[in-house]
Amino acid sequence: MINYRNVTDDIVWIGGSDRRLHRFENLFPLPQGVSYNSYVVLDEQITLFDTADITVSDQYLENLTGLLGDRKPSYLVILHMEPDHCSQIATVAALYPEMKLVASAQAFRMLHQFFPELEGREEITMAEGGTLQTGRHTFHFVTAPMVHWPEVLMAWDDVSKGLFCADAFGTFGATDTALWADELDFEREYLSEARRYYANIVGKYGVQVQAVLKKAAGLDLAALYPLHGPLWRDAQGIGWFLDKYQKWSQYEPEDDGYVVIYGSLYGHTESAAQLVAAMLREKSGRDVRIYDVSGTDVSELIGEVWRCRHIVLFCPTYNNGIYPPMANFLHDCAALSVQKRVFALAQNGTWAPASGKLMTELISGWKDCTIVEPMLTIKSALHEADRPALDAFVEAVIKGGNV
Ligand SMILES: Cc1cc2nc3c(=O)[nH]c(=O)nc-3n(C[C@H](O)[C@H](O)[C@H](O)COP(=O)(O)O)c2cc1C
Ligand SMILES: [Fe+2]
Ligand SMILES: [Fe+2]
Repeated sequence: MINYRNVTDDIVWIGGSDRRLHRFENLFPLPQGVSYNSYVVLDEQITLFDTADITVSDQYLENLTGLLGDRKPSYLVILHMEPDHCSQIATVAALYPEMKLVASAQAFRMLHQFFPELEGREEITMAEGGTLQTGRHTFHFVTAPMVHWPEVLMAWDDVSKGLFCADAFGTFGATDTALWADELDFEREYLSEARRYYANIVGKYGVQVQAVLKKAAGLDLAALYPLHGPLWRDAQGIGWFLDKYQKWSQYEPEDDGYVVIYGSLYGHTESAAQLVAAMLREKSGRDVRIYDVSGTDVSELIGEVWRCRHIVLFCPTYNNGIYPPMANFLHDCAALSVQKRVFALAQNGTWAPASGKLMTELISGWKDCTIVEPMLTIKSALHEADRPALDAFVEAVIKGGNV
């Protein structure tokens, strides 16, 4: 069945949601699903903005052909050449042979890698400052390199004052009955997924996101039309979400609480982490969240690292190394250029504890990250005799928390 939604009088959302896909990019779990947003602007000349993922292609094509009927689009604008938005380009091009493709020069090179059959199709190459006039609407293009691919374009519509912003300002989570963020309790239902999406997919490119935010500040901006998740139209909501992006892209935390992440083979390190987490909450009065590194998807842990400045790690020594799931988490932190965080470290070892030193060596190479002294060393299990060391550790973590 056709299931499209009006965004404005003449802009129509024709995307789809997938609640069956287990992992986005075959990597990130999707407990709330994911949406692929695609748009049609019904002006004198009709313009399509991106297509959709193959998993929602039936719905997308039904929406497109159902909406257009006998009408033919003049342009397909490709803002971003990742297959979650591009899988249907060749299909749509075959449906509408006269339709011109609009993209950046680099996107066209990628297009031909994915779709050699589109060789010879009329192309309009767009760069920074380029425009596309379709009747009432003029679209003004800005480049957004490495947010999060190199070829990304965004397009500002001078009628609705909305920015087709590609993967920026997107979130995991299917589109529900409401299309707009202001129709939802976004902070409760979507914020942690938006943060997880940002941190894991865009997080490495804070500098590039800052550049886009500067461009956005120069636009008369009344709406955001991202490729995933709810759309934004109210000034307060847009300001709130732009502020989140300001913080996230500068690695500034949102909350002053603690995130405790532990690994444990047999439970001894876990019980130490639980005790410290409880002591931290009691003594600091701040929010404390605790996660098992083996049982929590690393993308969630990364989202939490973006939320909070203060991270407490409990790690067993494993074959003279860092416990593998903790090593995996730290690898992701390094790969995403985690910055401006305060780490406190607790190591466990039954014969030769070494994970603390190894974690210190890794983290001390990260930009503007500090490590609280002293670290806590557990020899197999904590006992009452360890109380002074435990108190000293918690005190140091709280003192570290005040910097
Ligand atoms: C396969 C394996 C390898 C380990 N390697 C080391 C090691 O190299 N050095 C060490 O001091 N302890 C080592 N341990 C002990 C753990 O670091 C830890 O002390 C023990 O698992 C108790 O903590 P837990 O109950 O939280 O798992 C190892 C344990 C296992 C099962
Ligand atoms: Fe993407
Ligand atoms: Fe995407």
